[in-house]
Amino acid sequence: MEKQNVKPADGKLGIMVVGLGAVTSTFFTGVLMARKGLAKPVGSMTQYDKIRVGKGADKKYLSYYDIVPLAKLQDIEFAAWDVYPADAYRSAMYAEVLKEKDIEPVRDELEKIVPMKAAFDKNFAKRLDGDNVKDCKTRWEMVEQLREDIRNFKKEHNCSRIVVAWAASTEIYVPVNNEVHGTLAALEKAMKDNDTVHVAPSMCYAYAALAEGAPFIMGAPNTTVDIPAMWELAEKMHLPIAGKDFKTGQTLVKSGFAPIIGTRCLGLSGWFSTNILGNRDGLVLDEPDNFKTKEVSKLSTLESILVEDNQPDLYKNYFHKVRINYYPPRNDNKEGWDNIDIFGWMNYPMQIKINFLCRDSILAAPLLLDLCLLTDLAARAGRYGIQRFLSFFLKSPMHDYTKGEVPVNHLFQQYTMLKNALREMGGYEADEEID
Ligand SMILES: NC(=O)c1ccc[n+]([C@@H]2O[C@H](COP(=O)([O-])OP(=O)(O)OC[C@H]3O[C@@H](n4cnc5c(N)ncnc54)[C@H](O)[C@@H]3O)[C@@H](O)[C@H]2O)c1
Repeated sequence: MEKQNVKPADGKLGIMVVGLGAVTSTFFTGVLMARKGLAKPVGSMTQYDKIRVGKGADKKYLSYYDIVPLAKLQDIEFAAWDVYPADAYRSAMYAEVLKEKDIEPVRDELEKIVPMKAAFDKNFAKRLDGDNVKDCKTRWEMVEQLREDIRNFKKEHNCSRIVVAWAASTEIYVPVNNEVHGTLAALEKAMKDNDTVHVAPSMCYAYAALAEGAPFIMGAPNTTVDIPAMWELAEKMHLPIAGKDFKTGQTLVKSGFAPIIGTRCLGLSGWFSTNILGNRDGLVLDEPDNFKTKEVSKLSTLESILVEDNQPDLYKNYFHKVRINYYPPRNDNKEGWDNIDIFGWMNYPMQIKINFLCRDSILAAPLLLDLCLLTDLAARAGRYGIQRFLSFFLKSPMHDYTKGEVPVNHLFQQYTMLKNALREMGGYEADEEID
């Protein structure tokens, strides 16, 4: 098959992450350990998955690297911003996700990753009080300082390409406001006028990344890239954007399990999801305004899989509730419970209980790696704007709601979209369908 016009992954890829907390330090440590052959990048699709290309007698199962030119782990350079000054080694030790024996072998490299000062506004995350923060008079100044950080890092580390990803705390809920977020010109004006209510610091990171020619990924549920102004900028710059909110534990289970109910035409009367979590993420989410952002993101999953309008007998008015409770003894080891009230033949009720004892950052780190590598690939393939094929990794996939687009949340449909995009970028036929 003829390869599509994807530029090769020549030179170094700079991955700049906003937030050097549990997820980021686990991600950095894992990649550095893997490239020394001391750990396995388990859970990463780009490192393990094999997909079919071709059909019938010609079919083959190939790894992503054999289909498309992906950046290699050896070619990655890391940087981060954080409100707290701890370097990546101290941050990994503080997070207590990984054991010391899994951090020490790459201590020297981790210690060199010292977070740059954050573009931060305490009103967006009241529970944080670090002082490694930029001094900016306006949101526009935040953008300019961040752009300088990106340029300096790229130059100093001799990177040919940059990807910027948000793995920082969830900000308070910023509803989409058409006057400010509707067009790029309006957003830029609001930044210059220092509208600190509608312009979240995360929007400054996204703007700065795109303005510097770097794709942007939103790993938290913030509305940052869910606004037409940011889509306009991504299109103008011909750059990919992806978001939002890593689909790691409970929502992964939900988007994989709901299709069981839907395909067997069972009814749903309620789905109650609750969690206990004790890391800094849990602390920030204990604040109602920050939790609201997460709630909106987590709630959106079921609606497009079990659709009331399509099957009113089965999915009318089901009760869907999601809770996160801050509980320090568990630290990063989140425990999630799902109670699912279903009904069957002649409306007889039944219950399903799922108890997931997961490790939040262990699940999130491979997603962050995959999102960075695939977004970089997408940029080299000339794809720009919202990257729907990355929905597989995200709890609340980006979609153009101004045109009434419904996001795809069904895990296996998302997987098909991912595989087809890779086939296409690799010059093969995007031949798979799942409705
Ligand atoms: N781990 C998961 O399973 C998972 C799943 C989905 C989403 N997420 C999201 O990923 C994010 C990171 O999670 P975590 O467990 O690493 O949290 P964490 O609290 O350990 O780390 C977040 C870091 O971001 C920093 N930060 C906050 N605002 C910042 C800003 N404006 N600029 C720079 N740094 C800033 C904080 O100081 C903190 O160190 C959270 O928003 C979380 O909701 C995590």
